[in-house]
Amino acid sequence: SFILFQDQIIPREQGKVDIEDRGYQFGDGIYEAIPVYGGQMFLLDLHMKRLKRSANELRLQLPFNIDLLTEKLNKLIGLNRINDGIVYFQITRGSAPRQHFFPDQAGSILTGSVVSHDWRGNHDSGIETSLAEDIRWLRCDIKTLNLLGNVLAKQYAHEQGSQEAILHRGENVTEGASSNVFIVKNNHLITHPADHLILNGITRLFVLELAERLGITVDEQTFTLDDLFSADEVFITSTGNEVMPVVKIDGRTVADGKAGDVTSKLGEAFTGEVT
Ligand code: PDD
Repeated sequence: SFILFQDQIIPREQGKVDIEDRGYQFGDGIYEAIPVYGGQMFLLDLHMKRLKRSANELRLQLPFNIDLLTEKLNKLIGLNRINDGIVYFQITRGSAPRQHFFPDQAGSILTGSVVSHDWRGNHDSGIETSLAEDIRWLRCDIKTLNLLGNVLAKQYAHEQGSQEAILHRGENVTEGASSNVFIVKNNHLITHPADHLILNGITRLFVLELAERLGITVDEQTFTLDDLFSADEVFITSTGNEVMPVVKIDGRTVADGKAGDVTSKLGEAFTGEVT
């Protein structure tokens, strides 16, 4: 398969990063994961807008402009013959002798790849989840390569036999280890506000738009573990999961254990937009 290395598309085996790359040593970098449907990147502009925001927040210089990046990503999708898949790319602050403060010289390094496998999950059966304390830093709004808090939570969920960790700071639910969390109560949608405690998911944003189109009311407001357990429906959203019903939380069945009506409506509307 082919990968992107800076603005060059090369065979995967030829991609080499330096041992002192700051992404490798400090997690000093950012990334995006963009879904591809029918060979086309979906909600590209929103992903690129978030990328630019992440770069600004970390004072990270992109190695080249978004138009060229888009062109190269499209080439990568074509060369790898991806129909439905996910494009992943990251940008690090480059390579320099190890010191914590920013290096003067190092240019940022962009690498990207694309995967196509059976990544669209089973939306009928939904997923099981586990609760985990959200121990991450206070800038979860930036899509950085520092994912240890997310990784540990996901590993815990995995060991419990579930597919996602639902994170909470004390009583308040924030988001999933790699997804956003929504609850439905009396046909009304609630999800954590897009502040510094969550990543503002592009799927989340799109689902908010779908809800408006369908006349489903929404509150972007903090909700508690009690709200989660008393919800009529719970679902998560992400690039990989799309709109995914949550049927269990820590072994407790959500409502009747099936995907709820509002979740299904949003899921169908989502599928309608991408197929
Ligand atoms: N993760 N919250 C977190 C912490 C995430 O890592 C993600 C996505 C989301 C959902 O964002 P989006 O809808 O833009 O995919 C929310 C990606 C897919 C990943 O790390 O693989």
